[in-house]
Amino acid sequence: KDHIAEVREFSTDNLEAIEAFRIKYLGKKGLLNQFFGEFKNVPNGEKKEYGRVVNELKQLATEKVASLKDSVSGSLGEKEIYGDVTRPGEPLELGTRHPISLVRNRIIDIFSRIGFNVSEGPEIEDDWHNFTALNLPEYHPARDMQDTFFIQTDPDLLLRTHTSSVQVRYMENHKPPIRTISPGRVYRNEAISARSHCFFHQVEGLYIDKEVSFADLKQTLQFFTSELFGKSKIRLRPSYFPFTEPSAEVDVYWGLETETDYRMTKGTGWLEIMGCGMVDPQVLTNCGIDPNEYSGFAFGMGIDRIALLLHQISDIRLLSENDVRFLEQFRSAS
Ligand code: PHE
Repeated sequence: KDHIAEVREFSTDNLEAIEAFRIKYLGKKGLLNQFFGEFKNVPNGEKKEYGRVVNELKQLATEKVASLKDSVSGSLGEKEIYGDVTRPGEPLELGTRHPISLVRNRIIDIFSRIGFNVSEGPEIEDDWHNFTALNLPEYHPARDMQDTFFIQTDPDLLLRTHTSSVQVRYMENHKPPIRTISPGRVYRNEAISARSHCFFHQVEGLYIDKEVSFADLKQTLQFFTSELFGKSKIRLRPSYFPFTEPSAEVDVYWGLETETDYRMTKGTGWLEIMGCGMVDPQVLTNCGIDPNEYSGFAFGMGIDRIALLLHQISDIRLLSENDVRFLEQFRSAS
């Protein structure tokens, strides 16, 4: 009880004195811990009163320390509290954007200018969204085009092999007109080399409306490639995908006679950059869209390979090693 009076009366404007007071009462070996330690030796009949007094003392001491500290810091200048605020700051180390992000952001920006939004979906996908809805039923030989990682505990689950799965989800949940691109990471069980990896990144696009034609597809791709690569020639080669009909592969000319911008490695000829086609009517039906009313096109490209081209990177594995010496080189890229 004497201590309660002492705590009540204690006053100082000296920070060190406050700290000494705090240690005396509230420190690890302070009075309060001693009192709490003695609690077990107090006769049963007195325990209640003893506890009440000690707890009151603790509360008073805690409040006293806080209020004294408050009033001291209130009367201190900025300098005492924060140090010299006019001292020059330490420079902050700025990170750099990853080349995959740089290229993905450019692609999103180009398509957003012609009305495409961005959609996303899960990387762990079910069989329906990755394959079956896209005209790839079980045992369809075209499933072998994309070597798949399955999830061991559930044969219906897999790591998505393309972001076409996101387009299926988007069609299931939205009515046309649809204009969306789906960027994301995809996985394929492929041997890792300088040119391919077991995971990479795609942007797939989907456009569904009334009377969409192959000419719309070609114009959209022409616009896109010119924006991304500078003025460029493209060619469409007939190809096959189970979910588009007709289907085509898009090559961009990486050649000497093209007016290219400085980023291109010239003289390599036609380079394949994406797959595309008119969405198969059966796929529309699978996703709840009436193919008699609507048609559309889809396309898909790998971001990693485009990043290799644009930034003249020689090995795809550099993109996932996170070597700072590599990443720092993209400081001024946009
Ligand atoms: N999904 C295909 C792939 O990953 C690309 C593609 C998308 C082709 C849309 C045509 C239409 O290879």
